[in-house]
Order: sequence, then structure tokens, then C-alpha cells
Amino acid sequence: MVKLCVNIDHIATVRQVRLAEEPDPVAAAVICELAGAEGITVHLREDRRHIQDRDLYVLKKTVKTKLNLEMALTNEIVNIALDVKPDMVTFVPEKRKELTTEGGLNVIANKTALKKAIKKLHDKGIIVSLFIDPDIDQIHVSRVLKADYVELHTGKYADSKNEKTKDRELAKLQKAGSSVIKAGLRLNAGHGLDYRNVIPIASIPGVEDLNIGYSIIARAVFVGLDKAVREMKRLI
Ligand code: PXP
Repeated sequence: MVKLCVNIDHIATVRQVRLAEEPDPVAAAVICELAGAEGITVHLREDRRHIQDRDLYVLKKTVKTKLNLEMALTNEIVNIALDVKPDMVTFVPEKRKELTTEGGLNVIANKTALKKAIKKLHDKGIIVSLFIDPDIDQIHVSRVLKADYVELHTGKYADSKNEKTKDRELAKLQKAGSSVIKAGLRLNAGHGLDYRNVIPIASIPGVEDLNIGYSIIARAVFVGLDKAVREMKRLI
């Protein structure tokens, strides 16, 4: 069964625009879970543009399903993860100026630092996922690094401007998905998924968690968060 993990970063984005107390991502997490989400995902960015440290600590105490922390490979954030102990950590690349995570993590270039961080997280019982592009070399190194999961970056597929590129990007994801499973890794996917493009990704054999944020929160502005989550659940 494919699971929906709702990324609630942009609830915090709205709050941070006014440096106010509302809307509270913790309340959002409760609504998502009541609507059937199987996980809650947040990205604690180095610049703290949306989720704050306190959110993460409170979410750890309140989330009943599964808490997945997306994070950059830096000592500061790894130490926070070791302290909070979310159920899962997903390493992502991070650039200060980007609007959202732009590409997959280059696990080959970051092999040594990742190996150390993965060991520390595993020692605390935290599951580790690596957010990568659908690339066979990145998959092989993820296996060597003993990651538990890889999350395939669906951004290029989601942003395709025409059917031909979309089909090509989908084929790459399907092929990479099968390599991930053959390598003995577990498979997640996400980025840019919405109500129109999610079904082919949810149909990739072996895919477990779909991490979806922006489209759900955007729809929630009009139809409410409960309904937005239920509609996505029904699709996947
Ligand atoms: N997966 C990862 C690793 C991400 O970094 C993000 C964005 O924070 C998402 C999924 C969700 O992307 P979107 O907000 O476009 O649904």
C-alpha cells in the first residue's frame, strides 16, 4: 500500500511571513493524521525559513504516525536529529537561495560525510533515506552507504512542459525504481507531485511513501486541509 506523508512546511511558511503564532504546523499535523495521512514530513532548513526547532520537538511528541525529517548534511542539523530522534531522516541538498529543493543529493560526492552521519543515526535507531535523482550510480552508492530508503526526486517529471518529456522522465523514474528494489533498498518518491500527476508515480512497483507538500497545502487554502488530504489519499 502506497502511503501519503504530508509535508507541512508551508503551514509554517504562512506563519513566518508575519513572525506570528498561527497557523501552527502542529495543529496541521493532527488534521492530516485524522484525515488519513500515514506520515508527517518537515524540512528543518539551515535558514529556518519555515519550520522552527520548537516545531520539530513538539511534532516529535505529538505525531502518532511517522515523523520524517528532511535535512541538509551539516553537523548542526545532524546533531538536532540525533537529539529529536524522528522516525526517519531524509538527507536533501540545500542551497540558501533556492525556492525549494532543486535537485537530488549527490551521494557520490558526499560519500564520506554521509557514511559517518548514517552510522550515527542508525546507532540511535533512526531510519535513513537519501533524496536522489533517478540515476543508477547514485542508487548503487546509496546501497553501499547502507541507506534504508532512497526517495526518488520526481521534480523533473512534475515540471515537464509537454507529454513527451513527461513520459521520458516517468520512464526514468520507473527504471530507477526497479533498480532501487533490485539493490535491496526501499523506495519513496516526492517533489512537485499534485492531484493531476500523482497516479503514475503511485503506480511505480515497490514505492512506499509519497512525500507531498505544496499541492496539498495550496488546495487546503480553498477546500480545507482535511478535504485536501482525503482527496490526495483517494488518488494514491
Ligand atoms: N520530498 C523532498 C525530499 C522534499 O525536499 C520536498 C520539498 O520539501 C518534498 C518531497 C515535497 O515537495 P512538494 O512540496 O513539491 O510536494
